[in-house]
Amino acid sequence: MTESPPARIFADSAEACRTLAAELAGLVASINASGRPAVLGLATGRTPIPFYAELIRLHRAGELSFARVVTFNLDEYLGLPAGHPESYHSFMRRELFDHVDIPAENVHIPDGTIPPDQLDAHCAAYEDAIRAAGGIDFQLLGIGRTGHIGFNEPGSPRDSRTRKVELDPITRQDAAPSFGGLDHVPTHAISMGCGTILEARRIALLAWGKGKAAIVKEALTGPVTDRVSASFLQEHPDAAFYLDAEAGSDL
Ligand code: GLP
Repeated sequence: MTESPPARIFADSAEACRTLAAELAGLVASINASGRPAVLGLATGRTPIPFYAELIRLHRAGELSFARVVTFNLDEYLGLPAGHPESYHSFMRRELFDHVDIPAENVHIPDGTIPPDQLDAHCAAYEDAIRAAGGIDFQLLGIGRTGHIGFNEPGSPRDSRTRKVELDPITRQDAAPSFGGLDHVPTHAISMGCGTILEARRIALLAWGKGKAAIVKEALTGPVTDRVSASFLQEHPDAAFYLDAEAGSDL
């Protein structure tokens, strides 16, 4: 028997982000007070943007410091240099890192330009770095239309680790507008695996809007299956979904 993660449904995404950001600020402060850095797993996509804006607001208000925060991003497109505007390196600088006091050496994002013959070693080193940091205290997630977390497309095993993945046609279609057309969307990425993500001590998945309602319902109440990698969260002891009213409307 598994017990589904709680669905916390808020009036709107702003309220959800305020709540979770306050919780995260408290978590970082208490971990730092225990004498070690807080290790955060971070996500990209449109969904976390208002959450990062709230973290920046808390930082500017003096309520959250990233000075002793270490981060690991979920994924990066293969073939995109860090400076490409659609790379997740660029995204993270733009939406969070450029606005807070995180030391550059504390930031980890897979390298999308790694040559094929070094890819496996790069992925293994990413896993080693997470372990060396003490594991992830808090993992932030969005959810793709295919039910993916990170870029763990349908078929990604429960125990998968950081590796090269092929993007689902639906995922590439969803990314096409920001890349200026499907032809420009990378076909592959490097992604933490489901197993990597599920080892995080606490997990928060964010989803906004009617367009996510059906997949949120499937992930939370459907069978636990590798066809919907977010369904694996049902087996995590401390995962929660933070939803706006629309994303929670099918529950
Ligand atoms: C991409 C990212 C995921 C993200 C998903 C949904 O596939 N790799 O981490 O959850 O997009 O994106 P959005 O938040 O824009 O709906």
